[in-house]
Amino acid sequence: MIIIKNAADIEKMRKAGRLAAQLLNHIEPYVKEGVTTLCLNDLCVVFTRMHGAISAPLNYGGFPKSICTSINNVVCHGIPSVKDILKNGDIVNIDVTVILDGFHGDTSRTFIIGEVDGKIRDFVRRTESAMYMGIEAVKPGKYFYEIGKMIEKYIGKFGYSIVRDYTGHGIGQKFHENPQVFHHFTRENKIRLRKGMIFTVEPMINMGSSYRVKTSRSDGWTVTTADGSLSAQFEHTILVTDDGVEILTKI
Ligand code: MF3
Ligand code: CO
Ligand code: CO
Repeated sequence: MIIIKNAADIEKMRKAGRLAAQLLNHIEPYVKEGVTTLCLNDLCVVFTRMHGAISAPLNYGGFPKSICTSINNVVCHGIPSVKDILKNGDIVNIDVTVILDGFHGDTSRTFIIGEVDGKIRDFVRRTESAMYMGIEAVKPGKYFYEIGKMIEKYIGKFGYSIVRDYTGHGIGQKFHENPQVFHHFTRENKIRLRKGMIFTVEPMINMGSSYRVKTSRSDGWTVTTADGSLSAQFEHTILVTDDGVEILTKI
């Protein structure tokens, strides 16, 4: 079952989405060489609390921290740590989710640390474009699979690959609601988009040709590329409107 949000829900989702976007903007100046990912986590904790919200990841399914920080070959669910010091040439995805007045706002960006190789900059930029292409495919009456179709058509040109094991998701009073939103083309997503649906589009793109990933056996969370290649991701929470889409996590 996919929940259709009413006007009051949508207003709360707008507020939660706006706060999540503000949170990423707030930490952006600190996402620099020499900072630890634990420090970024703690900055997020303080900002989120000061705005009367809760960090959704903390204790979600046992996740130990309040944001996800995924460096280089880490695809997603990287755990902030005092041992992870950002260094020149890294790329890092920061994924934040806040709960404000009972509703979730979920967004992420991949940041570049210092001087990064041109090929890697292109890769990160194209990953963001892929997310926007997926979002642009959203219109009431069309199918969810148009999102993955558009992303696949664009990303295929570069020899990158689209992670399949993690997807976008419905979102609202729960962090992860139905449906799963695939970022590659699949008939599984032959579901109609309807006005009032709210979900995320969050493609994880591997720079190499393999979409395969593996989960750390030591911490049970950190997901890395199977072939060791870099991985980037961008995420927005979006609402299906009368004639298209409204991005809730953009200011
Ligand atoms: N924010 C992630 C998403 O976009 C989910 C993180 S789950 C956690 O869906 F447990 F790792 F926090
Ligand atoms: Co999400
Ligand atoms: Co997220």
